[in-house]
Amino acid sequence: MTLRLGFGVSGPLGQRWFEAARTRALIEGALHGGVAHFDTAPFYFDAERRLGDALRKLGRNEVFVSTKTGTRRKGHRLIKDFSDVGIRADVDQSLRALGRDRLDLLYLHGPTSTEIDACMPTLRLLKREGKVERIGVCGEGEPLRRAIGAGCDAIMGPYNIIDRRHERIFVEAKAKAVMTVAIAPLAQGLLDRRFFPPHDLADIWRMARAGLRPRYRKKAIAAAREAIGPAPVAEAALGFVFADPNIDFVMTTTTKPGHLARSLAAARGSIEPLLYARLKNVALDPPFDGA
Ligand SMILES: NC(=O)c1ccc[n+]([C@@H]2O[C@H](COP(=O)([O-])OP(=O)(O)OC[C@H]3O[C@@H](n4cnc5c(N)ncnc54)[C@H](OP(=O)(O)O)[C@@H]3O)[C@@H](O)[C@H]2O)c1
Repeated sequence: MTLRLGFGVSGPLGQRWFEAARTRALIEGALHGGVAHFDTAPFYFDAERRLGDALRKLGRNEVFVSTKTGTRRKGHRLIKDFSDVGIRADVDQSLRALGRDRLDLLYLHGPTSTEIDACMPTLRLLKREGKVERIGVCGEGEPLRRAIGAGCDAIMGPYNIIDRRHERIFVEAKAKAVMTVAIAPLAQGLLDRRFFPPHDLADIWRMARAGLRPRYRKKAIAAAREAIGPAPVAEAALGFVFADPNIDFVMTTTTKPGHLARSLAAARGSIEPLLYARLKNVALDPPFDGA
């Protein structure tokens, strides 16, 4: 059974302090569970190489892999670079790290609408050269809409119980047969009432990420947790996103095999109608107006 669940090889999964064997076991678990769509990026430390190695060793090089361009590590900083030279360098590095001769999907990572327009000739050329099969934009707000108009094959943007800004953009994308990928379906883990306390380094990483760049209002998180009630968070939060017919793939990630199992269960089932109605009615304060 092909799942609409995607697995992100990002965050701790590419970092030196998180053993490569653990990353491989999670990738293997996702594959065995039916996941056939993975996402990664060159700036997720060693993630691309770990994903490429795992897929090769497991004999699963045919699965769909997306990666990104436009953000690069320079020392401890992340810099943006949407130049023709920068994109080509990223693509060549990703092909080497993943051990592939073509990228299934290359996203521009967080571009402005103007940057999308400026990058399109290079992206189209990369498709003609056979290095990239599909092009897309991963971001937020108006650039996602611009990506649809510019002729991209895919868009990737946040969508969850408390962040519904992109609902209409996903509708517009579907109407134009553009692939839609929802990220942050668990609001980066914050929808789980057991978000605290930390038990290991990966938990500390998760908390630091949420603390350094807060994206959600505390009131909204509390309202969503209350609406989820005793239901397992993955089944509720992922189920909510799976229930939207305009979302092709729901991209999540985890460092824990137990959490992966819950995400797989959510992908195989469907959300209970009363729970869905409760989650739909979570009051967004202020209401999102659709980006
Ligand atoms: N969010 C972004 O800014 C962004 C940007 C570009 C691309 N992406 C792509 O989207 C993927 C998804 O990332 P995301 O962080 O946005 O996804 P998310 O699904 O909203 O959150 C993932 C977090 O939720 C926790 N989690 C996972 N399963 C859980 C469960 N069953 N119960 C409780 N907590 C659970 C994980 O922590 P544990 O490790 O503790 O399970 C993880 O830190 C990334 O891997 C990446 O490929 C994301």
